[in-house]
Order: sequence, then C-alpha cells, then structure tokens
Amino acid sequence: MNPQDLNAPHGGTLKGLSIVPRQKRSRAVSLELTPRQYADLEMIAIGAYSPLETFMGKSDYFSVIESMHLTDGTLWPIPIVFQFLSGQIDPTARYLELTHDLNHVATLEIDEIFKLDLELEASKIYATASQDHPGVKILYSGGDRALTGMLSLHETIRGYEGPEYLTPVQTRKAFADRNWKSVAAFQTRNPVHRAHEYLHKIALEVVDGLYLNPLVGQTKSDDVPVPARMEAYSVLLERYYPSDRTLLGVYPAAMRYAGPKEAILHAISRKNYGCTHFIVGRDHAGVGNYYSTYAAQEIFDTLPQGELDIHILKFEHSFFCSVCRQVASKRTCPHGPEFHVSLSGTKVRELLANGEGLPPEFSRPEVAEVLRRAYQT
Ligand code: ADX
Repeated sequence: MNPQDLNAPHGGTLKGLSIVPRQKRSRAVSLELTPRQYADLEMIAIGAYSPLETFMGKSDYFSVIESMHLTDGTLWPIPIVFQFLSGQIDPTARYLELTHDLNHVATLEIDEIFKLDLELEASKIYATASQDHPGVKILYSGGDRALTGMLSLHETIRGYEGPEYLTPVQTRKAFADRNWKSVAAFQTRNPVHRAHEYLHKIALEVVDGLYLNPLVGQTKSDDVPVPARMEAYSVLLERYYPSDRTLLGVYPAAMRYAGPKEAILHAISRKNYGCTHFIVGRDHAGVGNYYSTYAAQEIFDTLPQGELDIHILKFEHSFFCSVCRQVASKRTCPHGPEFHVSLSGTKVRELLANGEGLPPEFSRPEVAEVLRRAYQT
C-alpha cells in the first residue's frame, strides 16, 4: 500500500515547511518564541496543521471564530495566530526573526498586522471569559495583536528530544510499512490509566493499528510532566500491547483545554498524520466543568458529512467495576456507582504529590510505580 492511500490530509495536500538558508535582512527584528508559538510553529512546519502554511491573517482569524471555517471554506475550529503584545514589535519592521533559545529558527516576512478580539475569541472558542480557564489565561496574557506573512524555516523545529518522534510523513510511511489500512489515533495529556487502555484495546478490535499520540507541547503547570508520561507508556507497551499493532509517537502541539473545539483540531491533525479513526472519550480536552461530559463528541455530529473524513470512535465514561472485576462502562456494566473506581486528574495528582500509590484498579502497577518515582524526585 502507498502512504497516500491512507486518510487524505485535511484540505487535500500535506503541507509543511522545508529548510532554507537564512538571509541577512534589513528592517528585521528578533523575537524569542513563547512555548505556545514554538509548538504552533512546529505543528505548521511538520505539516500536522495542514493546510496551514503560516499563522492566520485577520480574515481567517475572524472567519474561524465566527464560522469554524477558514475563508476558503475549509473546516478549522481554533485560531492559530502569531500573537504579541502591543509595543513588543516595531511596526515598521518587515521581517521577524523568530528565535528559540536565541537560535534563529525561522523568519516571518510581515505582510499583515492586526488586532485580535480576545473577548470574542474566549467566548466563541473556549465558551468562557474566565481567566481561571488555563487556555483563556494564556490567550489573555499573549497580547491583543497578531501578525502574519510568509514563513521561512532555517532549522528543524523539534520540541521533544526522545526517539518517539514522528512527523506526518513518517507516520504515513510507518503505517504503510506495517500494512495498516485503518489506524486509530489516541490523543492524551494525562498519565496512561486502565480506562485509557480499555479504549485502546476496544479500538484495536476494529482497526489494524493503534497510534498512541501523547501531547508533549505546553500544558498547564500541574499536569504530569512529559518524561514520566512517556516512561509510563513504555513500561505499559512492553508488557500489555501487541508490538506489531501499536505505535507510540509524540504530538508536539500545545494544549488549549478548549474541549469540543479542540477535539476537532485534534482530529484534523491526526488525519494529517494519516489516521483513519480518532478516539474521543469523556470530557476530551476538557478542564474543570467548562464543557459537558460528552460535548466533545456531540460537536462532531453537527458537522456536515464529508467535512472531516475521519471516523470518530466515541466512548462512554469508563471505570473499573469491582463486581465485574474489569474496566467497563455503563453500556456494559449493570452495577451501581458504589462499585466503580475512577479517579479525576486532580485526585491522581493529589495522591502522587502525597507520595501515595495509585490503586491497581485505576492504574497498572508498573505505571503506578513509574509515577510514584517521578513524583518522589
Ligand atoms: S485529554 O485532555 O487529552 O482529553 P486525557 O489524557 O485524560 O485528557 O484523555 C485522553 C482521551 O481519553 C480523551 O479522548 C478522553 O476523552 C479519554 N478518556 C480519558 N479518561 C476516560 C475515561 N475514564 N472514560 C472514557 N474516556 C476517557
């Protein structure tokens, strides 16, 4: 099978930036990328945000906010803009030299500077203006200006150093080499637990391959750090997953916690990686109580057919049932909530911070041990 037979990229063509030599420019200013900007640039550079080839301009920005589409009619749920603070960039500059750890990684040829409507964006994308929401907090702290123009890349952008790094071109090849005709992608930002594993294994009953794709870009400060999450995956995969049907690769995006809208963004990028199916469980990409439990599933039902060609595998809230003695959901388990074990992310972090182990009903012992050690140090 050819890599191109897998799910077509969003918008039809896999984009991405090739590396070009740096040129000396006059009227250029330098700016150190924030973690969010770096992650967005990386996603554009590797083609995971196809069809975007640069940050959005004003008309796409407002079109996405108001209608969830780019001006050319392509479905797109969340603005991807190069945000900055008023006064931060000289308005007469023509080139913006983007640096990371003071290395000049890309140049943006400025052709539009515009004002953002942060309140509108917060209410339409995050469904709240509260700065207690971690995504809204970052939005408001980034400034109300944005700019765009042609991007030239001078170095590989790579926020994750480990071996589990694959670009969309590489995943497409990896899936084709394994002869997977259907691939389910799994987005995650939390340490892997048994309910996650339940979703993975059910998906593996219906597709050829599983692409585990933990998010490693910017997350809120109390989320479990990337190295512990990745180590948890490796100990779990070694013992409990079929190696010829599972692939682990990181997802470099920043987390926005935008619930339903972010679920669509997650699905679009996994389509770009060549996946044919995308798992959406309960409270996908959610935080606090801003979105209802299944809002991130329901939003896919509002999309006209053919707008997003990826199958959404929807899952009910899953838990360990002490009577069934297995992970189940209310679709498969007849017992009451008093028999169910499930822990919120906050509770998990609290147990870990207090040096307490995670219960075996919630977490495989190998994973619990990795997390316990990570929190001890
Ligand atoms: S997320 O922010 O990346 O969505 P998390 O890593 O917890 O957070 O979830 C990864 C995926 O697993 C999401 O699709 C989420 O809906 C799903 N999920 C997490 N826990 C459960 C659960 N107990 N039951 C059903 N789905 C779940």
